[in-house]
Amino acid sequence: MKISVIGTGYVGLVTGTCLSNLGNDVICVDIDKEKIEKLKKGIPTIYEPGLKELLVKNINNNRLTFSDSLQYGIEKSDIIFIAVGTPESESGEADMKAVWDVAKNIGKYINGYKIIINKSTVPVGSGDEVRKIINKNMNAKKHKFDVVSNPEFLREGSAISDFLSPDRIVIGSDNHNPAKIITRLYEPLNAPIITTDIKSAELIKYASNAFLATKISFVNEIANLCEVAGANVEDVATGMGLDKRIGEKFLNAGIGYGGSCFPKDTIALVSTGKKFGYNLKIVQSAIEVNKIQRKLFFEKISKFFKSRLENKKFGIWGTSFKPNTDDMRESPSVDIIKLFLKENAQINIYDPVAIAETKKIFKNKINYFSNAYDAIVDCDALVIITEWDEFKQVNFSKVKNLLSAPIIFDGRNMYDLNYMKELGFKYISVGRNQVL
Ligand code: UGA
Repeated sequence: MKISVIGTGYVGLVTGTCLSNLGNDVICVDIDKEKIEKLKKGIPTIYEPGLKELLVKNINNNRLTFSDSLQYGIEKSDIIFIAVGTPESESGEADMKAVWDVAKNIGKYINGYKIIINKSTVPVGSGDEVRKIINKNMNAKKHKFDVVSNPEFLREGSAISDFLSPDRIVIGSDNHNPAKIITRLYEPLNAPIITTDIKSAELIKYASNAFLATKISFVNEIANLCEVAGANVEDVATGMGLDKRIGEKFLNAGIGYGGSCFPKDTIALVSTGKKFGYNLKIVQSAIEVNKIQRKLFFEKISKFFKSRLENKKFGIWGTSFKPNTDDMRESPSVDIIKLFLKENAQINIYDPVAIAETKKIFKNKINYFSNAYDAIVDCDALVIITEWDEFKQVNFSKVKNLLSAPIIFDGRNMYDLNYMKELGFKYISVGRNQVL
């Protein structure tokens, strides 16, 4: 099938590349010329494990091409994926400008029957709006088209494998025929396919993200209770998670969720509820708990040093919002570093891939290191914010020697309490007893 994917962010680029890898002819379109030039050369514009190899392979097979012309992409394809950003607007609602712009252009350049697929995360009712905009912008010669909602469930850092082996594929369509065509497109993945109406498909996406965010905030509240009650949140989460109805995933307590999806989508869902006159209390609470969680972690550090952080030096490991990405959007590290700077503490940071992104935010206000050990030399404590694999098996005697005192604050519960005790560290994590 001839496909165009409009928007080459995380979702668009991964979707386009993977669809071409399944044997489809795909044109990835973006108005950003610089991005398109890089992509044409096989240079990924985002950090995503495995993407470069697939990109180069499919460019060389002539199945994957790139263009900065929306007109070209629209005219040359039978299926058009809209995969542009829907960032948070000032009011909290999803900012739909980019989606509406693409819809206008589809109306303008449509030259035959097309299926328009909404891949972007869009509020319930957006499919109808896309249909209206296309119809309104079509010239005298009317062409038939169908709108389908096909939300994505890709996680940054594992987006390729999430695309190729999904838990489910959701296809929302108000007509049988386009749903059948899109079902065929995904058949090679051998995944469960759910077909429903457009509005339900749009809501499945938001409800899934909000539920996962709530699961994280829930376990973080239990972690806070564990701390005061003297229990261990890891054991509590394991005990809960083994119940198949609960499930063990997304029960890792820590400093809360960040990224470009959960924070924005939870706020947007609450805002959609308000629009319809309904107050989503559980999601609102999950948002509030998440905001507090990073502050509580900082307060633990501050309390340990009796609120005297001025001129103390902290080595921070990990600044991206989670491992395997350089994405800093809504990362807990940003708020935590700001709190340190407010107290005039000195900050050294190391992250395996997010240094450049971190520099964009903090410029010369903090110190950057290209090696985890160099970042902690003579520091008053090591602070772990992102659980990168390379922090799992560190040389602890080296860490102990380099720090000015053997103190670790761990926002991601990476290490065993007894082991830390044996090694002689003071070790403060989340929802577990402090090793002092
Ligand atoms: C999330 C969803 O998992 C995807 O299914 C969805 O497609 C995507 O949003 C999206 O809407 O585009 P992503 O934001 O890439 O994916 O990252 P996750 O792996 O879900 O992690 C989100 C945040 O939750 C991270 O900050 C992570 O550290 C945190 N988290 C995750 C926890 O604090 N505890 C956990 O147990 C799991």
